[in-house]
Amino acid sequence: MSYPYQIKTLEDYQQAYQQSVIDPEGFWANVADHFMWRRKWDKVLDWNFKDPEIKWFSGAKMNITENCLDRHLATLGNSPAIIWEPNDPEERHRIITYRDLYNKVCQFANVLKNNGVKKGDRVCIYMGMIPELAIAVLACARIGAIHSVVFGGFSAQSIADRIQDAEASLVITCDGAYRGNKDIPLKSVIDDALMACPTVKKVIVCTRTRTPVSMLKGRDVWWEDEIKQVETMGNPSCPAEEMDAEDMLFILYTSGSTGKPKGVVHTCGGYMVYANYSFVNTFQYKPGEVFFCTADIGWITGHSYIVYGPLSAGATTLMFEGMPTYPDAGRLWEIVDKFRVDTLYTAPTAIRSLMGYGLGPVNHKDLSSLKKLGSVGEPINEEAWHWFKDNIGKGRCPIVDTWWQTETGGIMITPIAGITKEKPGFATLPLPGVQPILVDENGNEIKGNGVNGNLCIKFPWPGMLRTTYGDHDRFRKTYFSTYENLYFTGDGCTRDEDGYYRITGRVDDVLNVSGHRIGTAEVENAINMHAGVIESAVVGYPHDIKGQGIYAYVIMERLTHEPELSKKDIAQTVSRIIGPIAKPDKIQFVSGLPKTRSGKIMRRILRKIAENDLDNLGDTSTLLDPAVVDEIKKGKL
Ligand code: WTA
Repeated sequence: MSYPYQIKTLEDYQQAYQQSVIDPEGFWANVADHFMWRRKWDKVLDWNFKDPEIKWFSGAKMNITENCLDRHLATLGNSPAIIWEPNDPEERHRIITYRDLYNKVCQFANVLKNNGVKKGDRVCIYMGMIPELAIAVLACARIGAIHSVVFGGFSAQSIADRIQDAEASLVITCDGAYRGNKDIPLKSVIDDALMACPTVKKVIVCTRTRTPVSMLKGRDVWWEDEIKQVETMGNPSCPAEEMDAEDMLFILYTSGSTGKPKGVVHTCGGYMVYANYSFVNTFQYKPGEVFFCTADIGWITGHSYIVYGPLSAGATTLMFEGMPTYPDAGRLWEIVDKFRVDTLYTAPTAIRSLMGYGLGPVNHKDLSSLKKLGSVGEPINEEAWHWFKDNIGKGRCPIVDTWWQTETGGIMITPIAGITKEKPGFATLPLPGVQPILVDENGNEIKGNGVNGNLCIKFPWPGMLRTTYGDHDRFRKTYFSTYENLYFTGDGCTRDEDGYYRITGRVDDVLNVSGHRIGTAEVENAINMHAGVIESAVVGYPHDIKGQGIYAYVIMERLTHEPELSKKDIAQTVSRIIGPIAKPDKIQFVSGLPKTRSGKIMRRILRKIAENDLDNLGDTSTLLDPAVVDEIKKGKL
């Protein structure tokens, strides 16, 4: 596989960037020409950010799996597509070649068809990180079903919300999932979720942990049995459904500033081109290299840089079932050593947590295969950046600090590995096709360098979301109504003297806890469901390892005799309703919350208190009840 659109030098980058701004349609048509289309587009781009409507490659016909699988068979059939490393290092790893993967995807696509799934149907996938997860995703894409992968750490309630919103007709899950020394009973969580999901007619259960499960007659079937059945039917292939470039490929739910997660919709053609382009360029992928992204496929990073980006490029993608600290903090380095990994793409929170174990787990691991390092999901602090650079990259590997979002489909602002001069803490420069702009509160452009503002994007790129599922007006309101004619990212940003971008964090009510996006309103809603809670307010505060921690101020109906027990119960409720990732780190009982006279909670003040910035609370005299602030300060945790 060759990538004629791969940038090779800084001059290449500058030239590509210029061209992508002067003639975006010509630029992306040139890139898209190197993919497999059944029919080429009539028009490269149609757009307006008012309605808003964005269409890339209109009229083109294709299937993303033909680009990820079929087109590699002749040249890469025997090359590894997926290397899978299990949770338990004693268990054997698996290597799945492009031909194996093609066969397995076709087989499972036929299983889906046998179970009544048709083009356009929504399929919810709730599985651990085993190859069957990638197979399930690709099998959906093969037959034009829209997948909605839900991260294995979400609770039954969260799954039910997502299934209901998408009106999914089928669920694919596992009996259980291994994560470190835990065994998560996925099927039983699904059983709970489905009590509230009448649209789901079938559940396909893949065996992994042999955890006992109950199977509902007529609804639940075993993955392995279904595969046997299609095997006896003979024809192992499954023709790919012909999709329009703008047909939906998947929905992925993510948190915003309201209580209800939104279904971010990505479409087939633009997403494919962008996931591939950003992968090949950012990481400077070379054929034969092993690419290891430590994300879970339940998040966008896994969609774009474990599955679609690497596979569409004919790359070898390494999929890891477990976690960086199991059985010990040397696990990632062992995997790098074992498979001669070329690129390691991980999150600052993982780096910070591994730093805490010192160099013991790193020493004596052979990391000489590493050529490139990447970071994603949250701002990376300089200390972590340097630790990663010096101790893992041994000073010789470039680090790409990649800024992007579920909504953007792929990496947007990033150094190009080994080409862009890096600067710790900076995502540096936009990829070709990406036109960032900083604006002030009123939406006026902040020009020049050495400035701060809110980060917007002023021109469409192929990987951008097209709508929020079932609610186009929410799409408009969330992203295009804050500033006219601009896509608003929700992030604050600095552009320094060199024109380099540094993302400073969310400016809305979205928290980033260990690289996971969580809406404060979601957590508040969950806390408020706990018996005895009258009201709550949730803010983020700096946390050494997680980046941000969750701080909850809670008003109870009456004082409890055992406050610590009550706090534990409240945290447990949040965990049950959303998932363990949303558990508050600190809960403070208060008798009131600082509110304006119109009843709005002054989060700014609560944030300052949580951050321990007690002397800079600003003017509190206009509050409904200023005394409440002193009380909260006194009780600060
Ligand atoms: C944050 C993850 C600083 C940002 C791919 C964004 C980052 C949110 C970076 C999206 C980075 C992501 N530096 N902040 N390199 N990458 N973010 O949707 O606040 O899970 O808006 O997508 O993560 O999170 P999401």
